[in-house]
Amino acid sequence: MAVTLDDAKRTAIGSKLADMKAIQELLISAEQQLLSEVNDDQIRNDIQKMLESDQKNIGILDTVIVQYGVKGEPKQSVQKLVEQTKQQMQGSELSLYDKVTQFELLKHANTMNGILVHKAGQVVGADVNVALGPLNTVNFENRAHQEQLKGIMEKIGVRELTGQEADQGLFARLQDAAAAATGVVGSVISQTSDKEDLNIQDVIRADHGKVTTLYAQIQGTDDPQKIQEYFGQMYKDLSAHAEAEEQVVYPAVKPFYGDSDTKELYDEQAEMKTMLDQIKALDPSSSEFKDKVTQLMDIVGDHVRQEESTMFAAIRDNMSSDQSEQLATQFKSAKSQIQDKMAGIS
Ligand SMILES: [Fe+2]
Ligand SMILES: [Fe+2]
Repeated sequence: MAVTLDDAKRTAIGSKLADMKAIQELLISAEQQLLSEVNDDQIRNDIQKMLESDQKNIGILDTVIVQYGVKGEPKQSVQKLVEQTKQQMQGSELSLYDKVTQFELLKHANTMNGILVHKAGQVVGADVNVALGPLNTVNFENRAHQEQLKGIMEKIGVRELTGQEADQGLFARLQDAAAAATGVVGSVISQTSDKEDLNIQDVIRADHGKVTTLYAQIQGTDDPQKIQEYFGQMYKDLSAHAEAEEQVVYPAVKPFYGDSDTKELYDEQAEMKTMLDQIKALDPSSSEFKDKVTQLMDIVGDHVRQEESTMFAAIRDNMSSDQSEQLATQFKSAKSQIQDKMAGIS
C-alpha cells in the first residue's frame, strides 16, 4: 500500500484559508468603495488605516498559505457572496449605513474564519500550528476593526436617522472600553504593522524548520494514518521548496556562491526527490518506511546545513537587504505556483 499524499483535514483547512483570502480581498474593495462615499474626515481616516492594515494582511495571508502548503480554492458559496457583495457595495440601493453594516458583517465573518483555522490547526499538528502562527496578527486586527466599526456605524446611523450628530463622548468611551476588554487596543495593533519584509534566509529557514517538525511528528507516532498524513505533507513541502529554490534561489546565488557548491545543492536535491518517491511507494505501517524517512532526513540535514551556513553567508556578503527581500518575494510566488500545479489548481 503506497502513501496517499492528501489528507482530508488538511485539505479542508486549505479551503478555509482560501475562503479567508477571498473575503480579505473583498474587505479591501469594500474599504475603497466606502472611502469614495464617506465625507467625515475622522471616519475616512479610520477606514484608510483599516485599508492599509488589510492590504498588509493580504501579504501575511499569502505567506501563511504558501507555508501551510496545502492549496485550496474558495467555496462556491463564498465566491457568490463576494460577487453579490461587490455589486451591493458599488450600487445605490443600500444607504451608507447599510453598506458599513455589510462591511462589519464581513469583518466578523473573517475574524471567525481566522480563529476557526487557528483552532483547527491546533488539533491537526505541530507543523500546521507553526505555519499558521502569523495568522494571529490578521485575526487580532480584524477583531480590532470590528470594534472600531461599531463606533463608525453609530455615527453614520444616527446621522441617517436623525440628521444630528451622535453623542460622541459616550460612544467613544463605550467603544474604547469594548476594545480594551477584548484585548485589541494599542500595541497589539501596531506591533507588526511596520515590520520589514522577510528576507530569503528567513523564508528558507522557516521551510527547513517545518520539515524538521514534520519529521519529529513522524518519529513520534506508530499510527500508520498519522505517518501517512505527516509524510504526505513533508513530500509536498520538500518538493515545492526544492523546486522553488532551483527556479529562483540557486540561479541567483550561483555567480557568487560558485559552480561546484551550487551543483552540489542541485545534486542533493535530485537525490532527495528520488528518495521521496521511493518512500511514497512504501507501506506506511512497515518499519522500512520510517527507516527510509530517517535516511532521507540525513541527506536533508546535510543539505540544510550547507544552505544555512555557506550559502546564507554568501548571500549576506553579496546581496543587499533589498535584493534579499526581493528574492524572498520571488521565492514565495514561485513556490505558490508550484503548489498550485501540484494541486491541479492551474
Ligand atoms: Fe532549502
Ligand atoms: Fe535546498
